[in-house]
This record gives sequence, structure tokens and C-alpha cells, in this order.
Amino acid sequence: MLLRQMSNFIASSEAQYEDLYKQSTEDPKKFWSDFAEQEFVWHKQWDNLLDYKLSSDANDLGVKWFEGAKLNITENCIDRHLAAKGEQTAIIFEANDPKEEALHITYSELAKNVNKTANMLKANGAKKGDRICLYMPMTPELAYAVLACARIGAVHSVVFAGFSAKSLSDRVMDSKCNLVLTADGGYRGNKITSLKEITDEALMSCDCVEKVIVLNRTNSKIAMEYGRDVWWQEEFAKASDVCPAEIMDAEDMLFILYTSGSTGKPKGMVHTCGGYMVYVNYSFRNVFQYEEGDIYWCTADIGWITGHSYIVYGPLSAGATTLMFEGVPSYPDMGRFWEVVEKHKVNIFYTAPTAIRSLATCDMRLVTKHDLSSLKTLGTVGEPINLEAWEWYDEHIGKKNCPIVDTWWQTETGGIMITSLAGVTKDIPTYATLPLPGIQPCLMDESGNEITSAEGEGRLCIKYPWPSMARTIYGDHQRYADTYFSSFAGKYFTGDGAKRNAEGNYRITGRVDDIVIVSGHNLGTAEIENIINEHELVAESAVVGYPHDVKGNSIYAFVTLKGTSESGAVTREIRELVAKTLGPICKPEKIQITTGLPKTRSGKIMRRILRKIAAGDFENLGDISTLLNPECVEEVIKGRV
Ligand code: WTA
Repeated sequence: MLLRQMSNFIASSEAQYEDLYKQSTEDPKKFWSDFAEQEFVWHKQWDNLLDYKLSSDANDLGVKWFEGAKLNITENCIDRHLAAKGEQTAIIFEANDPKEEALHITYSELAKNVNKTANMLKANGAKKGDRICLYMPMTPELAYAVLACARIGAVHSVVFAGFSAKSLSDRVMDSKCNLVLTADGGYRGNKITSLKEITDEALMSCDCVEKVIVLNRTNSKIAMEYGRDVWWQEEFAKASDVCPAEIMDAEDMLFILYTSGSTGKPKGMVHTCGGYMVYVNYSFRNVFQYEEGDIYWCTADIGWITGHSYIVYGPLSAGATTLMFEGVPSYPDMGRFWEVVEKHKVNIFYTAPTAIRSLATCDMRLVTKHDLSSLKTLGTVGEPINLEAWEWYDEHIGKKNCPIVDTWWQTETGGIMITSLAGVTKDIPTYATLPLPGIQPCLMDESGNEITSAEGEGRLCIKYPWPSMARTIYGDHQRYADTYFSSFAGKYFTGDGAKRNAEGNYRITGRVDDIVIVSGHNLGTAEIENIINEHELVAESAVVGYPHDVKGNSIYAFVTLKGTSESGAVTREIRELVAKTLGPICKPEKIQITTGLPKTRSGKIMRRILRKIAAGDFENLGDISTLLNPECVEEVIKGRV
């Protein structure tokens, strides 16, 4: 028997969506206060629901939700379900190797495992407020560790296990983590990533780390540093399965998650306990319309915000069954996703457009040989989905029978902001469609005015706070103010452009800043340029994104050399340097060696022109006569690779 989870705040019809939207804008405080009060376990109610100032002055800028309230998010994700759902599966674990038996972890088992992990952390020195770095493969232990940190009030900082030693050490140092959790290795397709080796290299330049807890996942031969490194399995075995939840303030930090910035340094986005919990639960239930008993699968990695919000906290706070997949879509073959859907009778499937595009090019027998009839809702996230991919997903996976939710949101927003609600509001191919109740988007024109006509195109901003918005950038509130609140007075600027149709549906057109989304991963072009510039023969470089059929975008680097036009070895070395320092996902697909880069008279590289050239769009370069060196444009066009 399937029951939709009842709540007045979960829309079950278009009319109810409209009504909720109206309530949420007419009296936002009442809206969130009623939802939060009804749907969660709090140790103490808030004194003040919302206090905010959206200002570009860092001294004024601040957002606080549920101030004065006391809670622990893990009690809402685990303990409160135990009486009714102790024996229900909380997490299904599907390993990289299809021959390895899947695990079904019940809510009772989850409770014990999280408590044991929490006690293991404490025994190794972790305390409330400490920052703990998780550099782990996608095994259940990663989910336990995330929740264990939250249990004891430590702040988790998950670093995606595909990142390089340098990226890891930058992140560990930025937030001064005293504990790192990792594994000997991680399985990804037919490869093993040497996580411990990378961790060792990273930690050579970190003096803040006291302990490293190492999960044995792959039986790889690794070095253990005496006094610093301990084995997870041994420590876990010693730990008690009872661990009282630390009582947290709603505005205490829950986690830090780094995302690329348009200057070289990644931004540690800070999310707090109360507002984040409220919004991920609310959005999970509204968007996916989760019904009791549904099997829900989000294919993201917990290293990204999608995994935090919609593998761990959203589904578990709703008492759902969430599937965690360790592997990759292409192993052992390109039918792996569909095999897993069939095997576990997945009802709700949430993935990225880049995965859809690459799977759509495969032999259709890899799809048709699997029974996908359990599916009732599909979702996408991470970048705009093109019409072709949307139609393929609809026809071949959804069999024209499943709503598709195209969910727009960001690491900074914590939860889904603009989307259709599955089967409740209409989905429109290539449109994210409508804001969730409680979210007030707007479009701004170039001169900073809000576009008030129904139809329009501009920069996407949000004009009122929502509970799960990031509160700051760790250690750099000024940068938070500059990045998000200085472009348009009193509004949060997303960095994205969007169009709105006459019915109010939003279509996201893509980033308008220096971030490029490659296969759903946000890459800061400045960060890549900094690395390229480290090569001894490189004078300067400019990195832009260009459209790519499968990855959405790919990286194009324009490079000038110091007094040589040699290019064969240099381009190879640049690729290797970037892959080694930042990780293989950042590697430029195209590198063009050129003798000059177009610049403004003040010496700024005109990336706007380079973006057009990289995309092969030579017609619309705009006025180049004002450049410092207009003559180089022709050379750059001729040399395009
Ligand atoms: C892009 C991922 C179009 C967008 C949750 C945003 C999207 C950035 C969509 C955030 C979508 C995400 N349609 N674009 N449905 N979802 N984006 O922080 O440019 O990894 O600003 O968060 O991805 O990426 P992030």
C-alpha cells in the first residue's frame, strides 16, 4: 500500500501548489513556522523565526532562521523513525561490482552504525565544533560518518574522492580539520583510486590534522603512519552503539562544502542545522512526491551537495528508503543504471543530464533488456537539460509515463529552488518551470533593475531568504557578501542567467560568471588558469567553456608561451599538470597556443570574446576596436583547435 506522506505543506494538486505559493509569499514567517513546528522534533522552539539583512556590506549581511531553537538533525533523520520504521530499509547499498551482494540497512541498524561511528570519532579526539574532513568512497560508512559528525555536533566537510591531493589539502587547511576520514582505496569501475596515498600526499602540507581513520575497502597495500593513522574497522568494533545526540542551536554549523569560485580559491559554503533540515525535508517531499514504501535513487556522489541533501538528509528525514551506488554508469557496461533500477525496483530516479546524454548514445539493447516498469518519477539536476536528452529520458526510460522534474538549485541554496513537482505541476521540456512555495526568484536586467514584465530574460536572483541558504563562506564573510550580494542591491545573485515565459516558468540558460559546468561539475576557470600558469614555459592563459555534446560544456584553454612557439610537449604537460593538481575532470579538452590574448585597455583578458571563438561563433564578437590589441583576434580565430 502506498501512501503519500500527508502534510498541508506538501502540494498534491496544482491548485494546492498555487495556494501554498500564495501563503508563502503573503506571510513567509507563518508559512515556515507552521511547517517547522508540525514536521520535526525540536528540543526547544525558536525565539525568533527569521532575522535577516541582505546587504553587500559584510558587517550588515546576515541570515538567521529559527534562532534560539535546539535540535539535532540526526534525531529527525533516524531516532524518530525507530518506533514505526525500525525494520524498514533506510539505505540500500549497491556496490561497484555487481557480483557483490547489495546491503539493506534498516533504520535500527542505521541508528546503531551511526552511534558507533560517532563514538569512534569521539574516541579519536573529535569534539563539538571540530571540522572533520571526509575523503571517502561511496560506501555506507560515508553516510554513517556524515551523520556521526552531525550526531556529535562536529562539522563535516566532505571532499569528493575524485579530487587531487592539492585540492584535498587546500580544503583541509582552509577549515583547519583535525580529523580526516578516508579509505585505503575506492572502487570506480575497473579502477581503484588510491585514496590513502592521495591523503598522505595532501597531509604533508597540513599541520592541523591529528588523526586519520582509514576504512579498509579494497585491501590495497598502504602505509599507516604510527600515532596518526588508525583502522576504521578496529576502532568501530570497539565503539558502543549508544551515543546521545548533541543538542545543537539551529544556527550552529552543520557542514562546510566547497564549491568552485570565480577566483582561484574554492569557497567553503556553510550550512547550519535548523534551516537546512527544514528545507531539505520540505523540498524532498514536495518535489519527488515520495510515498511510503517507495525506493528512491539519486545517482549523485555524497561529495556534492546533491548527495548531502538528496541521498542523506532529505530522504532520511522523511523516513524514506534511499539507494546509494558506489560505482559508475559505465561499469561493467553502459546498462548498469538500468540494471540497478530493475534489481531494486527503483520508483524514483534522480540523475544528471550529462549521464543521460552519454547513456542515450549507447546500444539501446542495454536499456530495453531491463524491466524499468517500477519507475514512476524521473529527475535531473546539475545543468540545463537539452531537448534531445529530455525526450530520450522521457521516451526510453520513463516510457512516456513518468513526470520529469528538472530541478534547479546550487550548493549555496542547499535545496531545490525551481522545479515542477512530480505529477502535481506541469513539466515542460528544457524548463525548470516554477519556484517552490517559499522561494521568490526574480530576473534583473544589466542596469540592475528588476524585470517586471511576465516574460523576460536576465540574471537570476532570489529576493527573499529561504531556510537552507548558505550563511557564509567559511572564514570569509566579505567574499560571501561580494560574490552573492554585491551585484544587485538587497538580492541574492545566483550567477545564472534565465528566461521566463508568460506563465512564469523559468528556463535556466547557464552561468553568466567564470564558472563552467563540465559533466555536472562546477569548475572555476581561474583555478585552472592558475595551475596552467605554473608551467615554466607559460606566460599567460585564459580558460573558457565551450558547448560539448555529452559533457554539456568542456574546457578550452588559450595559452601564450614565454618566447617559444613549441606546442606538442607543452600541451601534453599542461594537461598532465592540471589533471594531477586539480583532478582529471578539470583537464582542458582543447589547448590552443597563441601569441596574444585579446585584452581591454586596462589589461584585462576579454574572456567574452574567447568564449565566442571557442564556440565557433565568429559572427558575434561585438566591437573589438576598443581592445588594446584587436589584431590578435584574427590570429586566435585562425588558430582555433
Ligand atoms: C547549474 C548542483 C540548469 C546552475 C545542485 C547552478 C542547473 C549550478 C540545474 C549549481 C538545472 C543546477 N538546470 N542549470 N536543473 N541545476 N544547475 O553548486 O548553473 O554543483 O548555478 O549544485 O548548476 O551547481 P552546484
